Amino acid sequence: MLNLGRTRTQPRSGRSLSLGGMDYADPKKKNNVVGKILLIATVAALCFVMLKQSPSFNTPTVFSRHEEGVTHVLVTGGAGFIGSHATLRLLKDKYRVTIVDNLSRGNLGAVKVLQDLFPEPGRLQFIYADLGDAKAVNKIFSENAFDAVMHFAAVAYVGESTLDPLKYYHNITSNTLIVLETMAAHGVKTLIYSSTCATYGEPEKMPITEETKQFPINPYGKAKKMAEDMILDFSKNSDMAVMILRYFNVIGSDPEGRLGEAPRPELREHGRISGACFDAARGIIPGLKVKGTDYSTPDGTCVRDYIDVTDLVDAHVKALEKAKPSKVGIYNVGTGKGRSVKEFVEACKKATGVNIKVDFLDRRPGDYAEVYSDPSKIKNELNWTAKHTDLHESLKTAWRWQKSHRNGYGVPLLTSS
Ligand SMILES: NC(=O)c1ccc[n+]([C@@H]2O[C@H](COP(=O)([O-])OP(=O)(O)OC[C@H]3O[C@@H](n4cnc5c(N)ncnc54)[C@H](O)[C@@H]3O)[C@@H](O)[C@H]2O)c1
Ligand SMILES: *[C@@H]1O[C@H](CO)[C@@H](O)[C@H](O)[C@H]1NC(C)=O
Ligand SMILES: *[C@@H]1O[C@H](CO)[C@@H](O)[C@H](O)[C@H]1NC(C)=O
Ligand SMILES: *[C@@H]1O[C@H](CO)[C@@H](O)[C@H](O)[C@H]1NC(C)=O
Repeated sequence: MLNLGRTRTQPRSGRSLSLGGMDYADPKKKNNVVGKILLIATVAALCFVMLKQSPSFNTPTVFSRHEEGVTHVLVTGGAGFIGSHATLRLLKDKYRVTIVDNLSRGNLGAVKVLQDLFPEPGRLQFIYADLGDAKAVNKIFSENAFDAVMHFAAVAYVGESTLDPLKYYHNITSNTLIVLETMAAHGVKTLIYSSTCATYGEPEKMPITEETKQFPINPYGKAKKMAEDMILDFSKNSDMAVMILRYFNVIGSDPEGRLGEAPRPELREHGRISGACFDAARGIIPGLKVKGTDYSTPDGTCVRDYIDVTDLVDAHVKALEKAKPSKVGIYNVGTGKGRSVKEFVEACKKATGVNIKVDFLDRRPGDYAEVYSDPSKIKNELNWTAKHTDLHESLKTAWRWQKSHRNGYGVPLLTSS
């Protein structure tokens, strides 16, 4: 996604993708009817298999009872990029996990990988459901004994949010309200919430601390800020333990190559910066366009803070471990170090071994020169620091998965072959 703490309120016209000072032109639309049919068939078949494997809603299972010494975490959006990585980490750390996802953007293939890694009963279950459906969510909470919720499920593309704001207020703000109400009704007392640096808007002063005033400037950031506000207001008269994590720009993937980032083909044009780079390396798009080389930054291109997903999920586990009843913790999750678009592109070239074509163009209105975090609060309070801070290493890891999964999790992509 494009969560560059950056700032366009207007959707771009034309078909190029904005990436914090970097753009790429769209691939030519391919005639992809066969691909689409294959995609639908694959998803349908996989759904059927997974649903058959999921425990029935009505029979009590190990998931429906609290167990001494076992923390059962509901991971919403666990079929998505960050949620699947968080699930992997939780399972490795002996948590019990229930994923709820409606697969609107996630990959059942990721859930399958996780189930194959942790097939023992009582480790992982997948429930296909829509968080916008309060009745369904309520039923899930009645039938499962959750100790905590990590709420990742959302729509998360800044550009898309300006084009379809209601989708964002619906799937972020309103769905978070449903999750919160249902947690309250069922006495689930720990919430870890996925928020974003997009809630800050364009602050004048860098680095961004948790005290920096939030003035989000696009519907994505606003919807997340509203969700935060609901959670904070609710927590004032509740003993819920709340941790709000505001991520900067998430990159990378599982160092052991089991999971990766595989957005739906139709979402690629809304783009995340590493996705754009990999698409260029694969020749799916002709190259990258860097917009603006005369910012007052060391090399003139925009500067952002890139956080590796492995570090990010580590922050979630630490937040979960340190969550305290009646307390709210709000933390930036970033490296504290800004990287320029030029640096990013160079790291991507090196990681992919492809001499990606880069055009340097004029500035685009609305881009903010620098966005990076001050991560000292999370270091002091949760003893968390980013460890995977070598851009080239993170991109190399992600590229390795991309290369060995040309079709993502098995669903046909628009490839150039
Ligand atoms: N990727 C980033 O750079 C970044 C940065 C800051 C914050 N975040 C936040 O992190 C969270 C996860 O992001 P991601 O990059 O993994 O996105 P993603 O799109 O890969 O995953 C989101 C998942 O939520 C599911 N989902 C969406 N709406 C749903 C609904 N109504 N019911 C059930 N499931 C639903 C989707 O199917 C998908 O699997 C989001 O809340 C996002 O706002 C991401
Ligand atoms: C996913 O949830 C949204 C509501 O948030 C709904 O509109 C959409 O149809 C759902 N998608 C699927 C595949 O169930
Ligand atoms: C989000 O909500 C809208 C309704 O506002 C719905 O059409 C859409 O399918 C939902 N889900 C996603 C992932 O967009
Ligand atoms: C903080 O984390 C480090 C590992 O990253 C660990 O060695 C150290 O003991 C931790 N400190 C505290 C106070 O928990």
